[in-house]
Amino acid sequence: MKKKYLIANWKLYLDVRQSQSMARSLRKFRSLRSVTTVLCPSALALPEVAEILGRQSFVQIGMQSIGVQEEGAATGELSARDAKELGCRYVIVGHSERRAKGETDAVIAKKINLADHSGLIPILCVGESAQQHKAGRTFAVIESQLSHALKTFHGKKLIITYEPVWAISKAGKGKSCPPETAFATAGILQKYLRSHFRSLRVTLLYGGSVSSNNIADYVDSAHFFGALVGFASTKAAEMRKMAKEIS
Ligand code: PGA
Repeated sequence: MKKKYLIANWKLYLDVRQSQSMARSLRKFRSLRSVTTVLCPSALALPEVAEILGRQSFVQIGMQSIGVQEEGAATGELSARDAKELGCRYVIVGHSERRAKGETDAVIAKKINLADHSGLIPILCVGESAQQHKAGRTFAVIESQLSHALKTFHGKKLIITYEPVWAISKAGKGKSCPPETAFATAGILQKYLRSHFRSLRVTLLYGGSVSSNNIADYVDSAHFFGALVGFASTKAAEMRKMAKEIS
């Protein structure tokens, strides 16, 4: 049976040393074998984490973001090519914390194409703000984000994470989205993808204040096939528990 996804987005919660120590602990957890575990450390901690895990590890690694340019004059950008060379298999694209810093739909579209051309599986994040949620615009927002991001996408494999922006925690604190609300969105989203992007193989995940206490409420085969976890993923015991909950 296909394994569920447990994707850890460490943001800037862990420094290099803490990331190394997490990687050492997680490498030993057999329970993580029963799910597809992907660690997304900060870009500067990633080479260290990759080295600790080694190429044959059952724990995989991903980037939290990449730049839009493949090579050349692009001071300070994060290279998809280098990420691949370091052993990354995944990259998060369009996270709301990056959209909030000015990452546009056009940039997101370029990034998912670049990720695909570079041999990385894009994890595209979509979701509505609190205001859009209150105004009943959830699906209109997501549809617009998807149609822009996927307009020129010709890849075959993609992970989409539905993350209501208002449910993403600030260092573990915040409001979570009731599972039935998230499921309703999942249903509409799946229908939309089936009718507009039939040839695309999409895995749908959930993100936003997920922890070992609630992961099993969101993750099931019918709606979300795994979770993208921020704050709770920075604790080894939580990672172990979450893997157990969904395996
Ligand atoms: P959170 O973050 O689990 O801390 O809410 C999720 C995310 O931003 O991907």
